[in-house]
Amino acid sequence: MKVTVSLIKADVGSVAGHALVPEEIKKLAEESLINAMETEKIIDFRIFNAGDDLELLMTHRKGVDSQEIHGLAWEVFKKCADKAKEMKLYGAGQDLLKDAFSGNIRGLGPGIAEMEFTERKAEPLIVFMMDKTEPGAFNLPIFKIFADPFNTAGLVIDPSMHSGFVFEIWDILEHRRVFMRAPEELYSILALIGAKSRFVIKRVYPKGGKLPAEEPVAVISTEKLYQVAGEYVGKDDPVAIVRAQSGLPAVGEILEAFAFPHLVSGWMRGSHNGPIMPVPFRYSKCTRFDGPPRCISAGFQLCNGKLIGPVDMFDDPAFDYARQKANEIAEYMRRHGPFEPHRLSAEEMEYTTLPKVLDSLKGRFEQL
Ligand code: F6R
Ligand code: MG
Ligand code: MG
Repeated sequence: MKVTVSLIKADVGSVAGHALVPEEIKKLAEESLINAMETEKIIDFRIFNAGDDLELLMTHRKGVDSQEIHGLAWEVFKKCADKAKEMKLYGAGQDLLKDAFSGNIRGLGPGIAEMEFTERKAEPLIVFMMDKTEPGAFNLPIFKIFADPFNTAGLVIDPSMHSGFVFEIWDILEHRRVFMRAPEELYSILALIGAKSRFVIKRVYPKGGKLPAEEPVAVISTEKLYQVAGEYVGKDDPVAIVRAQSGLPAVGEILEAFAFPHLVSGWMRGSHNGPIMPVPFRYSKCTRFDGPPRCISAGFQLCNGKLIGPVDMFDDPAFDYARQKANEIAEYMRRHGPFEPHRLSAEEMEYTTLPKVLDSLKGRFEQL
């Protein structure tokens, strides 16, 4: 029987600026989802916070884009946003950009990663939740996990992975997508996804063999808030779900991709490049210069749709080096202050005073 895993998230308000979702709000979300479980809308759930983002991880049998499940998430976010307003939390309701729910939560502000698949004899699931960055931040690690043999040993030595994977890549500017095959089209895939603010990996599929080719093995949220709102309203703090083992990358190969704190855009005011730091749940709060951007990871086994876990996957001294490296890079980048490439280029900035500054200098510019 197929199971659907839905990870739906929104910033509904936080404490001390954009730092943390308080316990009261997580509790409220939990109560609603316990109720949904009791009435058998969902099979199981877990609540997380990635910094200031409230994360609802749910399992059910309703498939992707289910009106019932999206409606449930919307209700929970609305309720939490109301409470956040009452508590005068910062940015209360900030990601709920539209008022009316009309069947699908897509395009209303929250981010969504969900996939439906046949649950295997043993089904390990790794969930990633990032704060203070954008969907393209997943391009590099997801590519490494499913296409780089220097990261994933199984691509070379496991016969069932040797033929590679198919990447579904979205052009979020032109609203179109393309399916590309690895390793056959590696260089072309990289030509696209290296431009991470425009081309983002949406899903990864197996090429058949042990696993049905039409069932995804990884999915990433790709919502862009500014495209919904028409103006800067914050970064899009993405999430991802990755299935592991038995013909797929091993859990350790999946996590290995985060041992390198690569540069992502986001951080302060959504307008700076900085390293992404893999942290345990307890450090999922962005403080220094509203950052540096962070990623937490929760590991599960699925049991007939029930979630066994979470295991706090980055709560391991083996990731201390990545964290130390991230701190060194953060320090190095910060010393650039308002200079590029720490500050994003003008075209990539989510907001800027440049047009106003130029305007105020109109009369003083002399032609050269
Ligand atoms: C980044 C982020 C924060 C805010 C910054 C200013 O994604 O959320 O860095 O951009 O704290 O916030 P406002 O404009 O709300 O004062
Ligand atoms: Mg916020
Ligand atoms: Mg956030």
